[in-house]
Amino acid sequence: MIDPKRIRKDFPMYVNKTQMQSRDLVFLDNASTTFKPYEVIDAEKEYLVHSTSNSHRGDYDLCFINDTKIEEARNVIASFISAKPQEIVFTSGTTMSLNFVALGYAAKYLTKDDEILLTVAEHASNVLPWYKVSEITGCKIKFIPLDKEGRLTPENVLKAISKNTKLISVAQVTNVLGFVNDIKEIARIAHEHGILVSCDGAQSVPHMEVNVKDLDIDFLSFSGHKLCGPTGIGVLYGKEELLEKMDPVLSGGGNNVKFDIDGSVKYLPAPARFEAGTLNIQGIYGLVAAIKYLEKIGMKNIEDFEKNLRKYAISQLKTIPDLIIYNENAEAGIITFNKKGVFAQDLATYLNSKGIACRSGQHCAKMLHHYLNEIATVRMSIYFYTTKEDIDALVNALKNGGHFLDAYFA
Ligand code: ALA
Repeated sequence: MIDPKRIRKDFPMYVNKTQMQSRDLVFLDNASTTFKPYEVIDAEKEYLVHSTSNSHRGDYDLCFINDTKIEEARNVIASFISAKPQEIVFTSGTTMSLNFVALGYAAKYLTKDDEILLTVAEHASNVLPWYKVSEITGCKIKFIPLDKEGRLTPENVLKAISKNTKLISVAQVTNVLGFVNDIKEIARIAHEHGILVSCDGAQSVPHMEVNVKDLDIDFLSFSGHKLCGPTGIGVLYGKEELLEKMDPVLSGGGNNVKFDIDGSVKYLPAPARFEAGTLNIQGIYGLVAAIKYLEKIGMKNIEDFEKNLRKYAISQLKTIPDLIIYNENAEAGIITFNKKGVFAQDLATYLNSKGIACRSGQHCAKMLHHYLNEIATVRMSIYFYTTKEDIDALVNALKNGGHFLDAYFA
């Protein structure tokens, strides 16, 4: 069983309290990014202090060490999501991964008669690349209606599919409402109709077991920094046969076999074809350390811990007068709320004054207001190092805001 208080000893942000000095750090913005354990920092330091060199470009020991480390890293990541190493592409994060699928695959194969299905709950990174595809190919973007709770149901996916649908791109866990979508069933339905599924795993891979073979999804995108790893490193998983058909969005050193003055280029096979330029080697060291750290804790343990803590948080938040909770029944450790009569950003600023970090605004899901009928919300999001005391601090702050939080009724 996870004991977050013991786990905090692994995280310098808790051990040093550098930012908040005298008071406890109440960090409830883990859907945005996560703290890094010493193991991740040490791994990055290992590269900087002992192993700095480029990779795949040198005939000397340091370079061989990094070549080997990177291919080992691919193995670790592949096994983490039950993929093959050649199906793992290093990117800068979820955004780049989704752009690669959109511009390297969809823009190449879709035509003006085709349709892409999204939902209004998607994050900007899973909308704007598809708008770009539409601009390039003329294809249409359609939105699968959410149910009245805000969930994406397989039934609505089925209803939204037409003979022109070629691709569905949705989050496995949505970043504002925290619903866990039944991606396995969505992929089954999609494949029955010859449709590909691209999955935004930014909010799922850090929090639960994700097995791409079992889900049978075609593409999965995720970021290192949301799973205790460094910023600037992420992963695109693609089925081997699809990656082989996909064009590189970035071209340059390291992604080709040869090119010549006649304009001809022969690209390397995947994954190297998508990894032009010097890789974020330091980030790869850190990402692998983060994944090994999470595996040590156990993804099932993380999921169970967050479910329980969420239940506790909901039970406490529900005791607060005039608190509107938008996703009481969601599964993930994300709770989105407003205090009646208080603008979300004011509320987050007030919470900050109590040492509590929550995100407010639209959380990059800028179409969700069509569903929520709210222009902005406050979002708290937990991880396996969040304590009940963190939740209590939030609840106390929300209960004791005095005139500031009662302004509407004064
Ligand atoms: N995508 C991150 C979030 O939802 C930044 O906060």
